[in-house]
Amino acid sequence: MSDTPAPIPIILDCDPGHDDAIAILLAVQSPRIDLRAVTTTFGNCSVVDATRNALRILTLAGATTTPVARGAAGSLAGASELGNYVHGVSGLDGPEMPEPAFASSALSAVALMRQVLDASAHPVTIVATGPITNVATLLQRHPDMLDKIAEIIFMGGSTGRGNHTPTAEFNTCADPEALDVVLGSGLPVSMVGLNLTHQALATPEVVARMQAMNHPLGRTCGEWMGFFGSSYRAVWSFESPPVHDPCTVAALIDPDLITWQECFVAVETKGDWTRGTTVVDLHDRYERPPNARVAMKLDPGRYWDLVLDSIDQLGNR
Ligand code: RIB
Ligand code: CA
Repeated sequence: MSDTPAPIPIILDCDPGHDDAIAILLAVQSPRIDLRAVTTTFGNCSVVDATRNALRILTLAGATTTPVARGAAGSLAGASELGNYVHGVSGLDGPEMPEPAFASSALSAVALMRQVLDASAHPVTIVATGPITNVATLLQRHPDMLDKIAEIIFMGGSTGRGNHTPTAEFNTCADPEALDVVLGSGLPVSMVGLNLTHQALATPEVVARMQAMNHPLGRTCGEWMGFFGSSYRAVWSFESPPVHDPCTVAALIDPDLITWQECFVAVETKGDWTRGTTVVDLHDRYERPPNARVAMKLDPGRYWDLVLDSIDQLGNR
């Protein structure tokens, strides 16, 4: 009787995006993860570009049988704030990428999510690393699927300042109403905000370890960090870029990587200046029951060893 736990079935909803790309590689490689599907959303770039980028990343990773489905082109409110100012014209600027070796599904992202949930013998974890529009639409359109979802873990928000605006993080700012739906769902929700991901910096030492890998995948990751880092220097004066999205997948693979705090979390949907801001009640001032666990502290060394070892193993496959 093996005491190795079964891999965690996940759907990865993303907007690749340089950091989403690393999250995809981590999910493909880890034996602790069963990547059932990748769904795409607008965010770092248009959903058309995000879908092409997802197909290219999976082609690069040799994961050409992973179902990919295109999702929301804009928010529940009909807006489409894009992050090309960080990720470049293609949404994944920097190194040359292979043309996709396979096509995306004819299903929409929400239809593929439903198909995966319906077919799964065990509840599935939804990992969201872009604007959470597809997930909110799934919950609204298919309430019968709620008991097929084990957890929603999302990169978004912050216990502190924002990035896209002074108070709002990009993913939550792009679709605050969608996050409001998720926070009100009653499902187990894990929030990985900027307060956590700003501890996951791709320092020169990290990038050097990518570049030293003797395979194209490692060098591609190093070039992604080069472009991503140039944007972070230009826009926010960061010396090294925070690699946000893999923190979600890494938390599933190694539960000891992050310490959490159960909190009541709200998202502002009305403020003239604060729309998209997450309000994280760390000291129970509102005396409301917690609706999320919030990531607070990362072990950066352990995180980067996991990410870099995974990239190296994938590159040597
Ligand atoms: O604010 C950072 C988040 O917005 C990351 O998920 C990044 O990929 C962008 O989607
Ligand atoms: Ca993202």
